[in-house]
Amino acid sequence: MFKQQNDIFLLSTKNTSLVLRKNEQGTISSEYYGPRIPNIEGCFGLAMPHTNPTGNSAVKEENGFVSLDSVNAIYSTYGIGDYFYPSIVLNNDKTNIFDFAFKGLEVGKPHKNPLFPTPQDANEEVVITCFDSATSTTLKLHYFIYEESDVIANYAEIRNDSDDILHIKRCASLQLSLVNRDFELISTYGSWANEGNIEITPIKYGRFIVESTSGSSSAKHNPFIYIRQKNHAIDDGLAYGFNLVYSGNHEESVEMDPFQNIRIQTGISSLGLDKTIGHKESFVTPIAVMSFSKDGQVGLSHNFSKFVNESVIRKEFQYKDRPIIYNNWEATGPSFTKEKLFLLMEKAKDLGIETFVLDDGWFGNRNDDSHGLGDWFVNEDKLPGGLKSLSDKANELGLSFGIWMEPEMVNDDAVVYKEHPDWIINDGLHKTIKGRNQYTLDLRKQEVQDFAFESVANTLKSANINYLKWDYNRPMASFPDGVGNFVYDYMVGLYKVLDRVVTAFPNILFENCAGGGNRFDLGMLSFFPQSWMSDDTDIHVRANLQKAFLVGYPLSVFSNHVSAKTSNQLLRYSSLESKFDIASFGVLGYELDLNDLTPLDEEIIKKQISFYKEHRHMLQFGEHSLIQDLDVEHKLIQQVQNDSEVIVSYYSMLQLPNPRNDFLLAKGLDADATYVYENRQETLNIKKFGHLINNLSPVHIGEDSLAQAELASKQGMDGEVTKGKALGSVLMGLGVPLPDEWKMTGLNPGTRVMGDFAARLYVIKKE
Ligand code: DGJ
Repeated sequence: MFKQQNDIFLLSTKNTSLVLRKNEQGTISSEYYGPRIPNIEGCFGLAMPHTNPTGNSAVKEENGFVSLDSVNAIYSTYGIGDYFYPSIVLNNDKTNIFDFAFKGLEVGKPHKNPLFPTPQDANEEVVITCFDSATSTTLKLHYFIYEESDVIANYAEIRNDSDDILHIKRCASLQLSLVNRDFELISTYGSWANEGNIEITPIKYGRFIVESTSGSSSAKHNPFIYIRQKNHAIDDGLAYGFNLVYSGNHEESVEMDPFQNIRIQTGISSLGLDKTIGHKESFVTPIAVMSFSKDGQVGLSHNFSKFVNESVIRKEFQYKDRPIIYNNWEATGPSFTKEKLFLLMEKAKDLGIETFVLDDGWFGNRNDDSHGLGDWFVNEDKLPGGLKSLSDKANELGLSFGIWMEPEMVNDDAVVYKEHPDWIINDGLHKTIKGRNQYTLDLRKQEVQDFAFESVANTLKSANINYLKWDYNRPMASFPDGVGNFVYDYMVGLYKVLDRVVTAFPNILFENCAGGGNRFDLGMLSFFPQSWMSDDTDIHVRANLQKAFLVGYPLSVFSNHVSAKTSNQLLRYSSLESKFDIASFGVLGYELDLNDLTPLDEEIIKKQISFYKEHRHMLQFGEHSLIQDLDVEHKLIQQVQNDSEVIVSYYSMLQLPNPRNDFLLAKGLDADATYVYENRQETLNIKKFGHLINNLSPVHIGEDSLAQAELASKQGMDGEVTKGKALGSVLMGLGVPLPDEWKMTGLNPGTRVMGDFAARLYVIKKE
């Protein structure tokens, strides 16, 4: 909802309002962003008073004593008295100074950003136009209001109406000014197989920046950041979240001045940016999004989850149940035979899996990662009968079939590279830098876009394929036109290709991947509804990822696979049961050698899959809330909820000796209603008890003996059953005590045998 009276502009969503104001000199400032203000009268008096001048400030003549440095501007340039870091840096041959003043405002139906993905179904678009008459330059700020999800989006457009060439050196999508209320900033850092680590930074005097310069949004720092009030519960206090609908280099900054005014900027990275526009040409930024909640990070997570599910995910996949996938990568790598794949398919079907995905290695001369990328034709020596024979076999069994591709890359033995060596990115002077033995194709070029599209289209048409994992496995280098310009143009090219692909194949389920989470962002999610979050399937790494990213993204985009008990990445052992408990929060898959499963493992997986199918819609699309972070007793407690039930996931990183009691806790229940709760009963591996198994066994069984392994392959031990009834107020308050953990004092009925890196699920339903 938009309302205006004189110089006050009120942009409201269901629960939030952003109040903007045009001041006497035409600068637009953000005076308030917080709980909803129902009418324009409620905005009067919110503007910063500025009644007393600040000494030693630069003041425009017509402005009396208000220095731009103390105005909470929603865009800023330098050289006119605003000494925060500018959100926009421009120049032409005559000047570096650009002073934009309000010219007009339009409200209406939303229009798409001309170059970058635009979240759908905004209620209104508000366009604020500002103009610098000295240089004939126009700045348009486009605001989109998403009422139901409490999100406001924003991008900037610059138009050159002069005859001078205009250089754009920096242009953030969004700038928001707030007064510090004892905030701290939460951002993420990471690397391959180690994405999504949380960094908590106090807001300090000065400027703090996270950015990516490697060509993709990157695992180094995700573009999602938020600020929250310190020393508040996770579901209490003011919280503001920001994200970018963009997949290239980005920059988020938070700056605080000596008066505790904070400026948040988010947008493309300005490293190496120098876009030029001529007479009557325009430049646009990608779209940034922001949300406010008074309920801390949990409130923010509800807003962003709704927003992404409803406005970012394409309609074809909105709230559409995602299949349980088997992917062969961690089991076979690129070395497999058709017979091996058939055996895996049969096992997958038997376990209840729904889609079989053949990962890297089916094409060209691809048996390791130095050959074949770009040769998107099947390797008939390896797979006689081609993809069709595989999809036929999968379909006969009742499975759907999926495939892996990496359409933006080539190896140097690829036919396409030999024919078109100029299609890869290179500056024309230096030897091209490889990454994972491969080159990046230059998607700025129309013919390269056509090649990428046709490679995908031909593959999808060659067999009955329902799913495609789109990978991107190296950072960029050897940029031809300065990193800033190149990455911006590459993204424009990439989005054109993605748009063509999903328009031609709207019902194929695409999974976004970049060697795991190296390009996990709202730009990619605008085309591909789910994402391979990491090449690390270790239980702890995955639990960490959930904790970091479920604040800004919904469960439905998290693709999680249960992998072998000993993790490929860390050699950490954790049970299939616990791995499932974590992987089930989101889109479930399996990625281990199914032919190595013991009869007991098979039984366990079958039960997991039937549990998942029973609760799938909620586990993929329910509302996620963090209940307790790992800093309390090393236990991460989170839940997912729909109208009728709640599932609580309880993850213990480190078992403490002789620990205190644990409690089953939940959120969002009806305080006066009675709930029944029950755990998903698990099967324990008898090997976990080591030599202690002899306390129960009539014959002696040595620890790690063949006899123990043989027994463990067939026989498990029933885990504890936890069942009961409790009032909603109790579950939301002090909680219900859970059975004692193992304490070395024997195995009593109901002992909760957890250990390190272990988890449980509890289902809570209204009686
Ligand atoms: C990186 C992905 O993240 C893996 O899952 C796998 O698909 C490999 N690439 C294949 O090369």
